[in-house]
Amino acid sequence: MTARPIGDVHVWTIETDESALIDVLAAYDGLLSTEERSRVGRFRQPADRVRFVLGRALARTMLSSLAPLDRRAWRFRITAHGQPELDMTGDLARLRFNLSHTHGLVACVAAVGCDVGVDVEWMDRALTNDIAERFFSPHEAAELRRLPDAEQSRVFFDYWTLKEAYIKARGLGLAIPLDQFSFRLRPPAPPAIAFEPALDDDPARWQFAQTTPTPRHRLGLAICADGRPRRVRFDAVRPEALIA
Ligand SMILES: CC(C)(COP(=O)(O)OP(=O)(O)OC[C@H]1O[C@@H](n2cnc3c(N)ncnc32)[C@H](O)[C@@H]1OP(=O)(O)O)[C@@H](O)C(=O)NCCC(=O)NCCS
Repeated sequence: MTARPIGDVHVWTIETDESALIDVLAAYDGLLSTEERSRVGRFRQPADRVRFVLGRALARTMLSSLAPLDRRAWRFRITAHGQPELDMTGDLARLRFNLSHTHGLVACVAAVGCDVGVDVEWMDRALTNDIAERFFSPHEAAELRRLPDAEQSRVFFDYWTLKEAYIKARGLGLAIPLDQFSFRLRPPAPPAIAFEPALDDDPARWQFAQTTPTPRHRLGLAICADGRPRRVRFDAVRPEALIA
């Protein structure tokens, strides 16, 4: 089985009304593996259950849009850093995906032949300046401090989603110190990254993008494009569209 040679990076988002969807979760059961179904049963919060099920249904649907394999046939394994990755062979092993979920939104990025990471955040969540001072790079924290109050929240989520997208594309999560790399926001040009020497990474390998999938959500995307910029296609999907 051969993955089609698609160079684009695809990002699909689903708006989720968690309280409405909890009653229809069983409709997605047939898409999930035994391991995924048992994980669903372990979530205490119904909203977490909804986000996990929709995330996996979304990832399976996207992967099957990129390669001719039934949605139920994808196998995943979890890395030592907690990242779900494909457990496939041959060309199918060249596919990459990453998931993110937050209150009211699930997002998935999928591509062939390049590592990708995505993060979505709900911008109504309560913030403290403390987070930026503790976790962001000195440059990012200083940039935030000099902004008027009204702009701080928006820019905070720009940095947050980009930083999370980068550590997720690397697959290492919080094993990468968040103050060891720093974003420069320079709209309308895409964001750029700079690294502290200890991180041993090259900005030229990376491509970043941002979008606002709903008025209340921000999305950051990281692509390890290795100097060959990829076209990014964003699509909004309805939860019902995943039920076949
Ligand atoms: C786990 C982590 C990778 C993402 O966590 P998060 O932002 O809370 O959650 P998201 O919804 O965006 O991502 C979770 C998904 O990422 C994927 N994931 C988990 N570990 C991953 C890793 N090491 N690398 C890439 N993806 C990973 C999984 O698919 C997971 O969803 P699933 O369990 O339903 O399959 C990690 O970065 C983390 O714990 N971050 C904490 C956030 C924080 O404190 N940020 C400080 C300000 S920047």
